[in-house]
Amino acid sequence: MYIAGQEEIDAIARVIRSNALFRYGIGQECDRFEARYAKYLGVKHFALSASGSNALAAAMVAVGLGPGDEVLIPAHTYMATATSVLAVGAIPVIVDIDESITIDPKALEAAIGPRTKAVVPVHMWGAACHMDRIMDIAKRRGLIVMEDACQGVGGGYEGRKFGSIGHIGAFSFNYYKNMTSGEGGGVAVNDEKLAKRARCAIDPCHFYWNGRDDEKPFAGNGARASELMGAMLNVQLDRLDGIVGAMRAERRQILQGTASLSNLGLRPAPMHSPDFDCAAHVIYTLPAAQAALDFVKIFPSVIAGKTGRHNYTEWDQVLSGEGAAHPAMNPYTMPANAECRRTYTRDMCAGSLETLNRTVMVPTHPLHTPEEIGDMIHNIAIAARVALGGMPLAEADLRRARPVDKQKFDMKEDA
Ligand SMILES: Cc1ncc(COP(=O)(O)O)c(C=O)c1O
Repeated sequence: MYIAGQEEIDAIARVIRSNALFRYGIGQECDRFEARYAKYLGVKHFALSASGSNALAAAMVAVGLGPGDEVLIPAHTYMATATSVLAVGAIPVIVDIDESITIDPKALEAAIGPRTKAVVPVHMWGAACHMDRIMDIAKRRGLIVMEDACQGVGGGYEGRKFGSIGHIGAFSFNYYKNMTSGEGGGVAVNDEKLAKRARCAIDPCHFYWNGRDDEKPFAGNGARASELMGAMLNVQLDRLDGIVGAMRAERRQILQGTASLSNLGLRPAPMHSPDFDCAAHVIYTLPAAQAALDFVKIFPSVIAGKTGRHNYTEWDQVLSGEGAAHPAMNPYTMPANAECRRTYTRDMCAGSLETLNRTVMVPTHPLHTPEEIGDMIHNIAIAARVALGGMPLAEADLRRARPVDKQKFDMKEDA
């Protein structure tokens, strides 16, 4: 969470005082947020749900993915991208990322097999995937594109908002996201039929609250949003452009201030839409993993390969084939999936791991002051000189540096 204050407290207090805590027929906050956020994204429908994981699964249900289908996902993403595929009985196929640390379009196209139905580009750490190339491949090869915009709230690609470019998009509003209600998420989509299916997946009783129509309901799990969530998100949405705008300005400043360090080997990672993405991090590609380790020891920052749950090697239940709680519902052993690619090895995306281990991320923050940003630029330069330029550590005159959030980035002792 970046910013929350009296406005959120007041909005939530209003809902509690009004006793209107249920979204259907009683409260109005969720409805209001869904309409406002759909407009913000430029889509026709937005359906709130209890989490981003559930939103992803609801989106998969909406587009009709299931047993017999493969879904391409990147090697670097939160594991819910993979488990949501399994939740609908389909099989996730793990694809390499490139130096942008988002899915590599070349690897994506090479990974398409006879069973591949969909691809999930993930705007990791708020950085844009190469959506033009991905949409082009998808069109030529007949794939559904489902954007995982859980980390991309408020960001976009070349003028369009994340989550509105593919056929369907999923968002998270958990504590770590650009806009938050503690937990929460939702599905963005233009097609009305898909929106109805997503709503049914989120709340199988949806038709009961809102009235039956000609769409046939199916069984699903409940993950209904609460009015407290809607109330907080309505306030957070007013803050969102300011938050993202401040992070973009900070990243621009840091990139300008550290541009000359590319001579030493500290290069900005390729960005697919620098004027529109979230800019939640300044991402650098270093020449080698050891240099990245040396760099983060001096300047508190994050190695993408050391962010635990975000790398496929940490997705225990996927790697071990535990695709469901009940063995009879395990997609990995379902006859319908017999022709899908169902095996993984820890080194299957070794190139991605190599890239991630030499990628360093410096988190931006909308409340960073000009002095703090100046200190960061100074410290990045010192860290680069020590890690890449042979400057003795004793000569490193660091200015005040804040530690990174170890829980958010899942950094273990070696990073
Ligand atoms: C890329 C990505 N996908 C999906 C999710 C799942 O969202 P949630 O934690 O709200 O279930 C997250 C959350 O961190 C995420 O970062």
